[in-house]
Amino acid sequence: MAFSSIIIVVLLLCLLASGSIGPQADCDVYAATGSNFTVQLKHVLKDSESLRWFKDKNIIFNRRSKYVIRGKNDDVDSTGSLKLTQLTKDKSGQYTPEVHREDGTSAGDLPSVRLCVLDPVQKPKVTVTCDKTKVTFTCDAGQDEKIEWFMDGETVAEKEKTLTRPAEDVLNARFSCNVSNPVSSEISQPVQQDCIKPSDHSGIWIAVGICICLVVILVVVICCVQSRRKKQEKELRLQITQEQQQL
Ligand SMILES: *[C@@H]1O[C@H](CO)[C@@H](O)[C@H](O)[C@H]1NC(C)=O
Ligand SMILES: *[C@@H]1O[C@H](CO)[C@@H](O)[C@H](O)[C@H]1NC(C)=O
Repeated sequence: MAFSSIIIVVLLLCLLASGSIGPQADCDVYAATGSNFTVQLKHVLKDSESLRWFKDKNIIFNRRSKYVIRGKNDDVDSTGSLKLTQLTKDKSGQYTPEVHREDGTSAGDLPSVRLCVLDPVQKPKVTVTCDKTKVTFTCDAGQDEKIEWFMDGETVAEKEKTLTRPAEDVLNARFSCNVSNPVSSEISQPVQQDCIKPSDHSGIWIAVGICICLVVILVVVICCVQSRRKKQEKELRLQITQEQQQL
């Protein structure tokens, strides 16, 4: 009995944990890994007041008047705002300040910030696949990344990872995708379909060129032949007249 209730409790805890770790819910602010972010203290701090910063439920900075008890002097700026540098994903969380007066009373509820740290997106690549008369472009975006397609620089209505078109409608069109998340965006190199070869006129021109050459050669040959024949006829006639005169 006791054993099965332990299992149920563990299962419930797992569910709770997965729910809170799950998708980046309710972020007030997004920042990219490696960047800096300052959580503003929305309170004019007096020298006599003590300042605490919490990350989730943990104290990460504690200063009583001038004496830093937890954290480093440099963790806050001159106004008491919390400086977060070289952000990593584990710096995601709820940051809450607390200010107390000299007599220990609270200076009031101060706004907290839920920060989410995300990797900037990778530059996407578009691949082309052919299916009979259809061409499909695929953008290799990551999960939770927003996609926007461009056809010859114009946005296209579809927002999915793949885009399908009849190949003959987009013979020479250039497709690229823009991938973005709340902290960055990247655009792919443009690609063209290669399912149907766009008609290539150079073959026709080569054929025309060859025909013209052949005609020219033929004309030259005919001319040569005819002029030679004329010459021969002339010589023959001359010979005949000479023979007649000798007679
Ligand atoms: C972040 O802050 C550190 C320390 O203040 C500084 O050296 C660095 O240049 C800052 N990085 C960016 C991207 O602003
Ligand atoms: C890509 O998408 C992001 C987010 O929608 C936008 O801010 C950015 O300007 C877009 N880039 C281009 C080149 O259109």
